[in-house]
Amino acid sequence: MKSAKMVLDKDFRIGEVDSRIYGSFVEHLGRAVYGGIYEPEHATADEDGFREDVLDLVRQLKVPIVRYPGGNFVSGFNWEDSVGPRAERPRRLDLAWRTVETNQMGVNEFADWAKKANTEVMMAVNLGTRGVDAARNFVEYCNHPGGSYWSDLRRKHGYEQPHGFKTWCLGNEMDGPWQIGHKTAEEYGRIALESGKVMKWVDPTIDLVACGSSNSSMRTFPEWEATVLEHTYDVADYISLHTYYGNRNDDTPNFLAKSLDMDNFIETVVSVCDYIKAKKRSKKTMMLSFDEWNVWFHSNEADRKMEPWQIAPPQLEDVYTHEDALLVGSLLLSLLRHADRVKVACLAQLVNVIAPIMTRTGGGAWAQTIFYPYMHASLYGRGTVLNPIIDSPVYDTKEFDAVPYLDSLAVYNEENDEITIFAVNRDLEHALTLECDVRGFAGYSVAEHIVLENDDLKAVNTEDHPNRVVPHNGGNAAVEAGHVTAALPKASWNVIRLTK
Ligand code: AHR
Repeated sequence: MKSAKMVLDKDFRIGEVDSRIYGSFVEHLGRAVYGGIYEPEHATADEDGFREDVLDLVRQLKVPIVRYPGGNFVSGFNWEDSVGPRAERPRRLDLAWRTVETNQMGVNEFADWAKKANTEVMMAVNLGTRGVDAARNFVEYCNHPGGSYWSDLRRKHGYEQPHGFKTWCLGNEMDGPWQIGHKTAEEYGRIALESGKVMKWVDPTIDLVACGSSNSSMRTFPEWEATVLEHTYDVADYISLHTYYGNRNDDTPNFLAKSLDMDNFIETVVSVCDYIKAKKRSKKTMMLSFDEWNVWFHSNEADRKMEPWQIAPPQLEDVYTHEDALLVGSLLLSLLRHADRVKVACLAQLVNVIAPIMTRTGGGAWAQTIFYPYMHASLYGRGTVLNPIIDSPVYDTKEFDAVPYLDSLAVYNEENDEITIFAVNRDLEHALTLECDVRGFAGYSVAEHIVLENDDLKAVNTEDHPNRVVPHNGGNAAVEAGHVTAALPKASWNVIRLTK
């Protein structure tokens, strides 16, 4: 059996986890909203039309923040369409996804839903078809207490108290030619600065996320970031990153190594941020918002065949496999490894659309495979990320050299006297023995060793078979003389919880 070694020390720290890295995303796209979080005719619908079965699953994930309402959708979104009496709201063509948007769920209802889901809203303004004026009015409508046109309109709509949305995205993926109102970095940098400036004049307590590149393969990456930050460095608090991975050639060893690409992407964006910081002689350090990340490829073919101009058709409905869950685990570890700079991250998305939660309209709701690593990280990955020293056997793939079979790190929760070791064994054939030196932590023992494993890498959960890929507590981790040892099954995600 192969083995890997890891050393953890209380004083070797990467940084504090900002719990918002366990955020997610709900876009007006496919059945994310209609048939997902909102379905007034559903058997579990509450008085506001929200599906209780979905809310239960969302609460299990302890999602701290949810980005809304897009995504590509936001670049054609007139926020005013989505507020006020439902009967008066217009139906619009959504050019981003070639559907019809009914606006029956809007900004105020989403704030209601977020309260019920125990989460915060990360709102976005449209910098595709709109700009400074709509952005400042939108912040006034949502966050100003009252006594002005837009804030009083909100009160008239039944929302006496301001929503107090704290985090705002300055548009979405404005570097992409597919975006409604696509811009050059110069054009975007200017409009983002001017919109952000007045948004903060309306509410100085808000935080702003400037658009970075849509992915690291964009021809304009990373020059886009440099130009955008030249303009927005003073007004923005975060720069965004987006990425999606797929196993298109069915090369699983290579697919499971894609988190190395995410590491590299984050580190490159950090370098660009610090270059602009140096150029501007600024004291401020720009933080990162990785506000779209996931596996996305299974549904591409079906989406190409979709009839346009339907209301809430099934779009981007990836059905996730066991191997997808392993990569999602590694992507979460990549975010944690950069906890000193990544302060917000959103698993894209939350329900039905490339999502950990699936529903059938009029039917059940269930957890996809990727639900589990996401939930484990959100529940147990809060505290301080320790900087691990890892010695693991490695393998080479088409895209990556020296990929460690062991992908691992630990989060130390000082308050609860808890250390959680997260580990992926990328070896598809063999178990891996983990030996972890935790001598600096006296008196800890294993509370549980959760394992997500499956003999079939392509196993999926469905409404009829929701438990094909579920974690169990039967891992064999043990602590002896300051060392944790554990056999990590082949192709597995592991959560080893140590408590005092
Ligand atoms: O999450 C799906 C889409 O992916 C989003 O709308 C867009 O921002 C990205 O290209």
